[in-house]
Amino acid sequence: MTRSTSAIAAIVAALLATSGAAAQTVKIGIINTLSGPAASLGVNIDNAIKLYMKEHEKNLPPGVKIELIRRDDGGPNGELAKRLAQELISRDRVQILTGFTFTPNAAAVAPLATEAKIPMILMNAGTAVVSTLSPYIVRFSFTIWQSCLPLGEWAARNGIKRVYTTVTDYAGGIDAEQAFAKGFTDAGGQIVGSVRTPLQSPDYVPYLQRVKDAKPDAVFVFVPAGKDATAYMKAFGDLGLKDAGIKLIGPGDITTDEELPNMGDVALGVMTMQHYSAAATRPANQAFIEAWRREYGPRATPSFMSVAAWDAMAAIFDVVREQKGHIDSDRTIALLKGWKTDGSPRGPIMIDPETRDIVQNEYLRRVERVNGELANVEIDMIPMVKDPWKIINGKR
Ligand code: PHB
Repeated sequence: MTRSTSAIAAIVAALLATSGAAAQTVKIGIINTLSGPAASLGVNIDNAIKLYMKEHEKNLPPGVKIELIRRDDGGPNGELAKRLAQELISRDRVQILTGFTFTPNAAAVAPLATEAKIPMILMNAGTAVVSTLSPYIVRFSFTIWQSCLPLGEWAARNGIKRVYTTVTDYAGGIDAEQAFAKGFTDAGGQIVGSVRTPLQSPDYVPYLQRVKDAKPDAVFVFVPAGKDATAYMKAFGDLGLKDAGIKLIGPGDITTDEELPNMGDVALGVMTMQHYSAAATRPANQAFIEAWRREYGPRATPSFMSVAAWDAMAAIFDVVREQKGHIDSDRTIALLKGWKTDGSPRGPIMIDPETRDIVQNEYLRRVERVNGELANVEIDMIPMVKDPWKIINGKR
């Protein structure tokens, strides 16, 4: 420290002391996927966290700081996530846990959040049941039911009569399979075949060959976003399903914005339902995309996971400000119940006070070429959708 910066530091300390604002650091533990085959998912989450901090840290009350403690779970791995959470809670003494790319990891940590009374803020993990696993969980991402059930209804009403489903064989994929089938068959559609593909190192070719042989109108697919989605899209194209006139439909994970350039023209025309598109023209999204590209380069594109992390950070900042850095767990959850904003890049969002789950618009999107680049163009919208699984099953 130079003489002048240390003098400034002394003055700031004196001012804080006289204004009565004690220095207060809020410790936040982030459990996220930063390595392994799904690393790009977590990097998109972490880049949003970094950008939010950079732009908003100055808005914290005087003397209040946020310290982020990052841990890498390497992918879907409940055991590791649980151990990392244990350490963050008992050794690092974090006051809030966040991140959670994968459902099994969030599910494994939920009992610890309850036991230690630590707010657990989900930035991804989309299986419907997860938010019911602890009263300290609040979800800022989505539920898979939120997109897949309305997509099933839309498909049946729009000329798609026979569908083959392929989903990743874990909780997230099973939610997708069940939600789509419910929406689709209730609206008169027929499921002609279903298969579950492995979570680790999948080769989609043999499964897609079966689909091709069954000659459905469409294949409904859920795979985790990122490289898996690109691998699926390529197998779909290489095996000639598109040329055979079989449509590809699914939640937005299968045409995740940041992977579209890697997918190529086979993605053109794919219809998906989801809560966020980087191509959305609403002003809050345009501002977000501009900030992202200023920070990460003109060709960088945030994912739907980035947006959930961005919104979760906005809510975390609000509860930190409201409590002037003195985090009380129950007060934090009370503040987050009913939390809402019109300023999210995805449109208006709200945390349902009863379920602590997110309520948001679902957009029907089609992959088109816009200014030379592939984009998920929003063509229709269902306003403020609550998690249908909780409504159907009477869950909170
Ligand atoms: C999840 O595990 O909940 C999950 C992971 C990746 C996705 C969606 C959901 O794209």
